[in-house]
Amino acid sequence: MHSIRFKFFVFVLAILLILLLLLNTYPIISSRDAVFQEKRSAMSAQGAVVSSALGGLEKLSRDGVTDVFRFLDLGNYDRIVVTDESGNIIYDDRGGAVETKDLGAALAGKSVFRSVFSNSAFSSRISVPVGSQGAIIGAVSLYENDTERAGIILSIQHRIAILSLIIGTAALLLAVSFSWLILRRFYRLADSMHTVAGGNYSYRHDITGNDEISELGREFNLLTERLEENEQQRRRFVSDASHELKTPLASIRLLSDSILQTDGMDEDTLREFVTDIRTESERLQRTTEKLLDLSRLDDGVKVLPEPVDLKQISLDALAGLAPLARERGIRITTDLKDGCVIMGSPDDMGRVVSNLVENAIKYNVPDGSVTVRLSQDAEHVTLTVEDTGIGIPKEDRLNIFTRFYRVDKARSRASGGSGLGLSIVHDAVIAHGGTITVGSNPNGEGSVFLVRFPRPSAEETGI
Ligand SMILES: Nc1ncnc2c1ncn2[C@@H]1O[C@H](COP(=O)(O)OP(=O)(O)OP(=O)(O)O)[C@@H](O)[C@H]1O
Ligand SMILES: [Mg+2]
Repeated sequence: MHSIRFKFFVFVLAILLILLLLLNTYPIISSRDAVFQEKRSAMSAQGAVVSSALGGLEKLSRDGVTDVFRFLDLGNYDRIVVTDESGNIIYDDRGGAVETKDLGAALAGKSVFRSVFSNSAFSSRISVPVGSQGAIIGAVSLYENDTERAGIILSIQHRIAILSLIIGTAALLLAVSFSWLILRRFYRLADSMHTVAGGNYSYRHDITGNDEISELGREFNLLTERLEENEQQRRRFVSDASHELKTPLASIRLLSDSILQTDGMDEDTLREFVTDIRTESERLQRTTEKLLDLSRLDDGVKVLPEPVDLKQISLDALAGLAPLARERGIRITTDLKDGCVIMGSPDDMGRVVSNLVENAIKYNVPDGSVTVRLSQDAEHVTLTVEDTGIGIPKEDRLNIFTRFYRVDKARSRASGGSGLGLSIVHDAVIAHGGTITVGSNPNGEGSVFLVRFPRPSAEETGI
């Protein structure tokens, strides 16, 4: 659970260690190298001076060398060793063991310089040959022990170490508080998610700041809002659906009870009651069929789209609704252009047309009419269903596609409406990539439903 924190720490610690390591080595190494360089050139020059001064002696002897050295300023050297041409030490101002390897090399004509930085001093030594008239007559080694520069470098090293300690501690403290601040907000978000996952959809995450984590919180709140809406919709749907089913069931129950409890009911009353029972069960059947249609559309189970000739679909639907229109005395006129084909499900399209036309007939006035038009342009296939009926008040137009919504409850309930027809139309149109709008008739009476589908390309329909 704390693995991000752990990884962050390891990361910061690694970077810190690398930086501090560099800080503690690089400046020291480079200043030490600079000192070496400087010593090499200074001591080489000095070695050359000493060598040429001794070269004037032709033959090296202790006294001769001492005389020469008296005139040279060699006070900064700790020790000076001189040998003759066969390597015998003829001058050593301090005595003790002598490293003869470099002197040997110098006798062979090579200058050798060494310098080490240890024991808080730069210990350097240069060994040079001494030549006279083209022949090597001896060698000289100059020793220097520089504690002053070494002291400076050591004190720099010490200061850098202290600085590193301060920087390291500060960086770690900063990293800890930073990760604590950031991760605390992540944990808070996780808590919120936990709360919502537990079913509390009204919960909202408290957003602070304006960075990526806040953005995450905002997205999460949006998601929760959607969840809450869905949940509310679901509950409303279940309660509406049960209510819708309860009413006809209660009527059936009441009617059958009456039949059972009335002894010797006369034939006509019995017929009337049974007819009512039949009407109610028909209504139940219609409602459940529509609910099934809706849940199928909800599931988005996609049947393979096929070319659907909307003219044929409309003619079939109108044939089915002709008896209803006749019964209500409504005249139906059509203007159906050929070739209005879309890709989709013929069953869904049948439902779209018949629900719209059924409404246009049902919510009409005596002697009213319904006009169904079908046309297409380069981009769209358009279906219009226009009626001269009672119209839909502006304030209801947004809601009529909502499940179970009826404008005039009493009226449409009486006509057997469940308020599901237009939601089925809406969902089917949307599932087919179309749009549906509702307006009023140009002369201000009745309604116009306008459905538009994208026109498929010739390759899609294969026509
Ligand atoms: N053409 C129309 N003219 C006037 N009002 C309409 C028209 N079409 C729909 N309505 C109103 O919109 C409401 C919703 O219509 P919808 O088709 O969804 O339900 P319904 O017709 O009541 O029942 P169902 O279609 O499920 O049998 C209707 O109850 C009616 O009040
Ligand atoms: Mg309807």
